[in-house]
Parts: sequence; C-alpha cells; structure tokens
Amino acid sequence: MKKKIIYEGKAKKIFSSAKPNELIQHFKDDATAFNNKKKSIIPGKGIINNFISELLMTKLSELNIPNHFIKRINMREQIIYKLDIIPIEVVIRNVSSGSIVKRLGIDEGKVLSKPLVEFFYKKDELDDPLISDEHILNFGWATEHELEEIISLSLRINDFLSGYFMSINVRLIDFKLEFGRMWKNDELIIMLADEISPDNCRLWDTNTNKKLDKDRFRHNLGDEDVGYKEIAFRLGVLSEKEFKKVLKNEI
Ligand code: TMP
Repeated sequence: MKKKIIYEGKAKKIFSSAKPNELIQHFKDDATAFNNKKKSIIPGKGIINNFISELLMTKLSELNIPNHFIKRINMREQIIYKLDIIPIEVVIRNVSSGSIVKRLGIDEGKVLSKPLVEFFYKKDELDDPLISDEHILNFGWATEHELEEIISLSLRINDFLSGYFMSINVRLIDFKLEFGRMWKNDELIIMLADEISPDNCRLWDTNTNKKLDKDRFRHNLGDEDVGYKEIAFRLGVLSEKEFKKVLKNEI
C-alpha cells in the first residue's frame, strides 16, 4: 500500500498506514523556533528524536500510561495510533526557564515549589497563547473529566521522566505534552501523543547546567546538535558509532 501524506508539521510528517486506526509519524531534521521565525536543519535530529521518543514512550507504556506509540519501523518513522488530537499544549515546569521567565520577570533556574502545569492553545496563527483551564472548559476543547485525566497523566509523566533523566545526570527543567482521544472497546481513552525528545523538553546537565536541548538552537548557543547526541548517547538508544554510520548510509 502506498503511504499518503496526511499532515506536515514543522518537525514531523504524518502519513497514512495500512490500518485505518494507525498512522506513520516521520521525524524530520528541520528545526524551527519562535513559531517558524527561526529555521534550520540539524542533521540527524529526526533519527535521534525517533529513537529517544521510542524509548520514553515504551517506558511510559510499561507504567500503564497510555500513549500513541506502537512500533518504530525504520530510522525516521514509527507507527502510532490515530487519535483525535486535543488542541492544547500542556507544559510542565520544574525549574523556571523560557517563556515563564520573560512573562513573570523571574530569574532563570529557580526550582519551583511544586511542578507547575500551564496550558497553551495550539494555534500557530495566534502564536499558541497561554490559556487557563477555564478557557479549555468554556470553549469545549476538553471536558472536566478529560482535563483531570490530562493533568494527572502529565504529573505522572513528569515524575517518571524526572527520575529517568536524573539517572543519566540530566535535570528535567520543563517539557511540553500533547494529548488525544481514542475509542477502545467502547471506552474513551486519553492518550499521550506527539513525541518526547530534546525538541520539547529542557534538559540541563546536572553537574554543569549545560543546556542539552533545542535551546542551543533557539538562542544560538553553538553546537546545536550536541544536546540531541549527548541525550541519545546517555540514554543508550544509539551509540556514537551507530549514529555516524546511520547518517552516512541514510536511506
Ligand atoms: P516555553 O518556556 O517556551 O513556554 O516552553 C516550555 C517547554 O515547552 C519547553 O520545554 C519547550 C517546549 N515547547 C515546545 O515543545 N513547543 C513549543 O512550541 C514551545 C513554545 C515550547
């Protein structure tokens, strides 16, 4: 069966698959920031994110946290469940950095008294504005029950990821999640969608606070690719040798 492109985003493409309830998620090397105002290519980023997301989503499944990941099929692609995507970006912050620093005039690097959950409306034309739970309920983007589930899953994911990254000497500063709905045996399930990778997490080295994520690209910190590679190598999803080989012989 020929795969048909369904959607092209800034960092990923979505294709149809052989099964109607499944899709193929393809990771590109394109890097964008500030809603597409800054653009570049980071060679191999898509491969690394595909592998990192595979590992983290698989671990979440082992903890019974429902997510759309089914199977990685090649270096850049994975099969995922087709979901009805909820148009909300959920950001969980453990330490102040990024937009909250600017918005509230606080110092970067402040450990928050507890994980902070923020919501943004997923709408590129409006630059994904910050919203409250009241907006989500008022405009019917999710029900009260769905929102409760989203928050509870987000906090469980934060607990797991914080510990997992700590074990490789990395601090999870903040990250962004997206969720969708799927019907399974007459039951509506809220599932984690998208990806978990250095594109949508802030990750700092525990000892030096060196930024090992997309902020290197966003803020011209140099060596845009080192964060992605360092996280992949520390997680053990790809060795440096394998990665170089893959990049050279890419299909
Ligand atoms: P922010 O500090 O810019 O609001 O970002 C918070 C977290 O969300 C950070 O880990 C980066 C991630 N993020 C995305 O994945 N996509 C986006 O479009 C934005 C703005 C942030």
